[in-house]
Amino acid sequence: MSKPMLKNGAAGAGEAKLTVSAAEMGARQREISVSEFFTKNRHLLGFDNPRKALLTCVKEAVDNALDACEEAGILPEVVVKLEVASNGDAAPPPSQANRFRVTVIDYGPGIVRQQIPRIFAKLLYGSKFHRLRMSRGQQGIGISAAGMYAQLTTGKPVQIISRTGARTPAHYFEVQIDTKKNEPRIFEQKQIEWENHRGTQVTLEIEGRYQKGRASVDEYLEQTAIANPHVKLVYHTPEGEIKEYPRTIEELPPQPREIKPHPYGIEFGILLRMLHDSKSQSVASFLSSDFSRVSPKIAQEICKAAKVSPDTRPRNVHGAPAEALYKAIQSTKIMAPPTNCISPIGERAILHGLYKQIKGDFYTAVTRPPAVYRGNPFVIEAGLAFGKGPEQAADKIEPRAPLAEGEAQDDDNELARVIRYANRVPLLYQQSACATFKAVLETSWRNYGIAQSRGALPTGPMVIFVHMASVWVPFTSESKEAIADYDEIRKEIRLALQECGRRLGVFVRRREHAKSEFRRRNIFELYIEEVVDACNRLKGGKLPKEKLKEQLQKIALKRTGGPKTDELLGKKTGPEGLPDSIIVTPEGVEGDAPALPGERTIAPAEESSHDEAELALPTLAKEQAEKAIKGKPVKTKQKRELKAAGHEKQAVLPFTEKNGKGIGQRKRTGKKDGKKKRK
Ligand SMILES: Nc1ncnc2c1ncn2[C@@H]1O[C@H](COP(=O)(O)OP(=O)(O)O)[C@@H](O)[C@H]1O
Ligand SMILES: [Mg+2]
Repeated sequence: MSKPMLKNGAAGAGEAKLTVSAAEMGARQREISVSEFFTKNRHLLGFDNPRKALLTCVKEAVDNALDACEEAGILPEVVVKLEVASNGDAAPPPSQANRFRVTVIDYGPGIVRQQIPRIFAKLLYGSKFHRLRMSRGQQGIGISAAGMYAQLTTGKPVQIISRTGARTPAHYFEVQIDTKKNEPRIFEQKQIEWENHRGTQVTLEIEGRYQKGRASVDEYLEQTAIANPHVKLVYHTPEGEIKEYPRTIEELPPQPREIKPHPYGIEFGILLRMLHDSKSQSVASFLSSDFSRVSPKIAQEICKAAKVSPDTRPRNVHGAPAEALYKAIQSTKIMAPPTNCISPIGERAILHGLYKQIKGDFYTAVTRPPAVYRGNPFVIEAGLAFGKGPEQAADKIEPRAPLAEGEAQDDDNELARVIRYANRVPLLYQQSACATFKAVLETSWRNYGIAQSRGALPTGPMVIFVHMASVWVPFTSESKEAIADYDEIRKEIRLALQECGRRLGVFVRRREHAKSEFRRRNIFELYIEEVVDACNRLKGGKLPKEKLKEQLQKIALKRTGGPKTDELLGKKTGPEGLPDSIIVTPEGVEGDAPALPGERTIAPAEESSHDEAELALPTLAKEQAEKAIKGKPVKTKQKRELKAAGHEKQAVLPFTEKNGKGIGQRKRTGKKDGKKKRK
């Protein structure tokens, strides 16, 4: 094609003809509107395939509804409706359908009439981008992108009803984006009668696929309910079912406050723009009024270090002085940003959420103190739900057919599940790219008695909950699926997980100990028969056998913590030594658990196997049980746990064998207590 025509830069008679001239190329240059860009690149916004698109549409509408309600101080109640949309023909069953109508209704503040078209039909339009405040949405590209996807796949406009109060009329709109201009086109606009006094209803008709399971709409709503126990959700599935996620906490989380950016988190270009846009008269006042934590004194200090006069007009600072200013900011000691602008979910609410949605034996939650990355404050929270709940445990005790060689029990290698959140929104895609997931992998779960292969998730029936709350969550892409891997963030996640793990370790060891106590009791009972017979023979058959047997049984029960435990159980108010945790046993629930509609019924469990003989006498048991009554707190330091008194209190609970195989280090409990084991 192109010969070495410009070798000498010479233009001569022999020059080859250009295939396209610069003028022709110039004529082709055109502006690209954001809408055109995202129409072509819709995967960037979470519309890669029909299944994900359905989820993204629901997610954007629900996130907005929750944000709006919370900001307005209204306890959120949201209705989500999925219906199969048919194009005139008979509607196919939901699993086969490829067209859906998504409707999301909230009873929030509503939207004023003039804003409706732009909110729903203009990309990058919103109230959240320009401020630093914790919210679910941040870039102003959520619901309008969903509308654009609807338009692209079915050609149908977005339908909106919104009303701001009982005395104002409800407005109905049908809008689409003019993708060339990124401006709304209004198809219909009228006042209507609406049964709701306040709120917003959005309807989108889209190409989608409905499938349950991982990363489905169902899972998203379920996980939303876990992290938002103050929200009431009603979900009309495409199959016509109505699922309700009730509210278990009757108050709104504290309002997050808006903050100014911290100077450490600002890139040079942004500083230049801020200098240019500032309304301040001098650099000194610009620094102290446009940033958080810069006092007039520190502003003077920065100017001095940068050799910039504090009275210069900000607009006139560019080039080398601006760079000097930037460097001076980085090298001046400035207090970390305020952290009370973040409203974490809180341990209690996480516990409630996990308990409400996930069956288990042990729950715990940790909220870390606030930290800062790139000048942005954030809070990490973690939680755990462990075990399968007493009902399932009871099932497992039933004799089952022996396993064939090499055949594993179903949950032997079951990996833990990680549920991730950013500002209370579940993240369902790109798990392995997420800082939260990486932190789960690099936590040594073995330290807490949980099996884990190298570089893998821990094994066992366990759900790991991680939440990052921040004024700006660093997502890896616009579709907001994974949290970017900043060292500060990863470290906080790890610390939170470690604290959860430590508590889980305490629980697991206590349960192991309880099991071994129970096993011993059974073994005593086996031998009691023999002992009574032997004694009787020695006495020439004149012994009151039944009486002796009864007495020995009493001793066995006492030595393995029997009646005292039961007594203790009745009085217990919380899981000893395990803050912010809930323990579920066949006897009941310990800890601050919410009442659930239709409380679970719990079958009494029996002890399963006793294949291991433990004959050593329980020399310590009595003393320990007494200590337990006094209820000394358990130390959370790992090494001391076993010595601590609360341990025995828990230990005498008749826990049942469950997920034993997933638990490493089980034999250690016995050894540490100085007991010998024999086969
Ligand atoms: N249901 C709603 N009720 C009240 N305001 C809403 C609602 N949905 C959207 N909004 C407003 O529309 C704006 C744009 O929403 P969106 O495109 O999802 O972007 P983002 O949520 O990232 O700001 C929001 O910032 C909010 O102010
Ligand atoms: Mg949004």
